[in-house]
Amino acid sequence: MPTAISNAPVIVANRLPVARVRDREGVRWERSPGGLVSALAPLIENKGGGWVGWLGVPGDAPEPFSEGGIELHPVPLSRAEVDLYYVGFSNATIWPLYHDAVRTPEFERSWWRPYVDVNQRFAEATARVAGEGRTVWVHDYQLQLVPGQLRELVPSARIGFFLHIPFPPVELMGQLPWRKEILEGLLGADLIGFQTALGAQNFARAAARYTDAKLSGGNLLFRGREVQIGAFPISIDTARYQAIAAREDVKRRTTELRRRFGDGRKILLGVDRLDYTKGIDRRLSGFDELLGRYDHALDAAVFVQIAVPSREGVPDYAKMRSLIEEQVGHINGRHGEPGRVPVHYVYRSLPMEELVAWYAAADVMLVTPLRDGMNLVAKEYVACRPDGDGVLVLSEFAGAAKELTHALLVNPHDVDGLATAFEQAMEMPLDEQRRRMRALRRVIERNDVHAWATRFLEVLAP
Ligand code: G6P
Repeated sequence: MPTAISNAPVIVANRLPVARVRDREGVRWERSPGGLVSALAPLIENKGGGWVGWLGVPGDAPEPFSEGGIELHPVPLSRAEVDLYYVGFSNATIWPLYHDAVRTPEFERSWWRPYVDVNQRFAEATARVAGEGRTVWVHDYQLQLVPGQLRELVPSARIGFFLHIPFPPVELMGQLPWRKEILEGLLGADLIGFQTALGAQNFARAAARYTDAKLSGGNLLFRGREVQIGAFPISIDTARYQAIAAREDVKRRTTELRRRFGDGRKILLGVDRLDYTKGIDRRLSGFDELLGRYDHALDAAVFVQIAVPSREGVPDYAKMRSLIEEQVGHINGRHGEPGRVPVHYVYRSLPMEELVAWYAAADVMLVTPLRDGMNLVAKEYVACRPDGDGVLVLSEFAGAAKELTHALLVNPHDVDGLATAFEQAMEMPLDEQRRRMRALRRVIERNDVHAWATRFLEVLAP
């Protein structure tokens, strides 16, 4: 159990880093595969830190338990709270608002109270774990009130907050009926981290306009405390991806994929959670346009889109899925032949090894979000190209574009521009591919997810 002398942080995130799996041997807990978990787990494993979060299913939560050396503190959510706090306020109000309002945010009054109450429950669960002077690291848009609520409960806590998604310009933030409460909630932290410098600036402007916070030398003064703000671009577990890409079984799978899908054609790849912010529909339009420019389109290129199911309870996600599936059918109907189609589409999540094999097989990676806090798929692709070839086409509206400047940067709203960039990527000479990829690899080797977490905690340290 955590002790008073432990200085390992307490992590607070909407989801716990484990999922319950049922197999032949019975029910057990399995560590989630994401990069955030692999970065944060070593900081708290067997060190007395802990993780406060939701198990991802509605209903009662088990008592705190330990799994793989991590103390887990489950926070229960009722079915109604999942609808109002998670599906509603988090994913139909904040998510679209913070992503440039690419879907109209819903300002539904009945979602606000459950958001406050669930955040309060997270803050109280955290206060039970984190006594005086402990470091607490709160994550993401579902929990923006927790820093302020925890500050009330444990005034001496050292509180960091990291926003994984963009922070919107003040004109958009100003639309939110609860803008002051959200901003004050965040200002309960000692350090607020954003993916980009623009996110930090947007926040500082909004806080100065809608709260009593005062700007002071790049930071904010709020209720007698200094609140530091800054950009901390998140990254991936680079070495882990490189190691998987070097495995013989994964290489064999890559060769097989190339033989089956490439066969003289360039393989273009997209990998995304199926989310309307990811611009999958624009990417398909760009590919459709490209196919129309060739006489023998089917012999030139094949596009593989892996779409990972996500937030299926949110109506805009279900609509996006139908739109994409209709578009795929339309393109294949127009340009394909029986047994040979230009677009292969998969709607499911794939094991990490299989994803790496796909990254290694792809001549061109298409990452075209309309707005994205960072986009780790872009970084994963780069990590899986040990031979230094391959071309990354990247939206200028992804946070990753600020670091991965040697990608082919595109405006995902410009269908003609997308088709031209796809063509340029397919035709790029090998020496230019290598030159660009070398520069991209340097970025993810210097700043991996461990460096990111270490830097954040160093700045947060009192
Ligand atoms: C984004 C968010 C995370 C979230 C993840 C998956 O990366 O920034 O906070 O956990 O999407 O979404 P989900 O709603 O399934 O947790």
